[in-house]
Amino acid sequence: MAYRWTPDLTRDDITPEPLWLNRRAVMMGAGAAGLGLIGAGRARAEALEPNSYEDITSYNNFYEFGWNKDDPAKHAGGLTIEPWSIEIDGLVERPGTYDLNEILAEMTIEERIYRFRCVEAWSMVVPWNGFELADLLNFAGVREGAKYVAFETLHRPAEMPGQKGGGIEWPYREGLRLDEAMHPLALMATGLYGKPMPRQNGAPIRLVVPWKYGFKSIKSIVKITLTDTQPQTTWNMLQPGEYGFYANVNPEVDHPRWSQARERVIGGGLFAAKKRTLMFNGYEKEVASLYDGMDLETFY
Ligand code: MTE
Repeated sequence: MAYRWTPDLTRDDITPEPLWLNRRAVMMGAGAAGLGLIGAGRARAEALEPNSYEDITSYNNFYEFGWNKDDPAKHAGGLTIEPWSIEIDGLVERPGTYDLNEILAEMTIEERIYRFRCVEAWSMVVPWNGFELADLLNFAGVREGAKYVAFETLHRPAEMPGQKGGGIEWPYREGLRLDEAMHPLALMATGLYGKPMPRQNGAPIRLVVPWKYGFKSIKSIVKITLTDTQPQTTWNMLQPGEYGFYANVNPEVDHPRWSQARERVIGGGLFAAKKRTLMFNGYEKEVASLYDGMDLETFY
């Protein structure tokens, strides 16, 4: 690809791992404990002992494992992630069901330090390991006429107890416009903090689109379809008035129930705790041109 992305974040910007893992406690405020973590700043946070993966109290959205933020950490342990395959179909030259190891052997895995911003107004800086989604799409060969990429998560109620319940029409699904998907910032992530992806974060492979809200970052992907029509996305199906197809981080367009103008940077220190949200999550230079001429209040 002609354009290679140049990172603007460094290791010093990374949210310390214990805070990433324990953001439930941090965001709940947990009284003094929560504030203590936020106020401690980077140096002290780094001195904290990382929790074991078993007893992490984390703050995840992964509704296949339940509606509460601590459900994924509690219930994702039984998910079988090996073997894992991804079906790639639709407008591609080489449709098929590929074993993940076969895909990984073809990809260049690198570490990317990205801002990660949730609708709920918290943000972090996370070191992801993965490869560019564009490389995977090129591996499958995008055919003429393809305009969108649709993604689906595993549907396996026996291992994903949340799928036994109602609310969401499974599988969880997401979509990107093809030019967004081909952008070098869009990452297929297989790990974080230099370790394999924890199950509650979307093992063994998930999407990370750093200029969009976290809900676009679909976890545990098993299917990718190239299509000429805009695909349905889970949150848009559930609450179209609140969650659009684009879901670009945009401080000027509020979520109907809360402002998106400011965010709490977890681990950013007490006085830096709330900061102004940046357009496209700080990736305006890289991605604004994708939306030239579009009214971003209409296409939110
Ligand atoms: N992917 C699937 N399959 N199921 C989900 O419920 N939740 C989304 C997204 N990806 C979700 C998903 C939402 S709402 C958010 S905010 C992010 O995952 C959270 O990612 P994290 O747990 O790694 O922070």
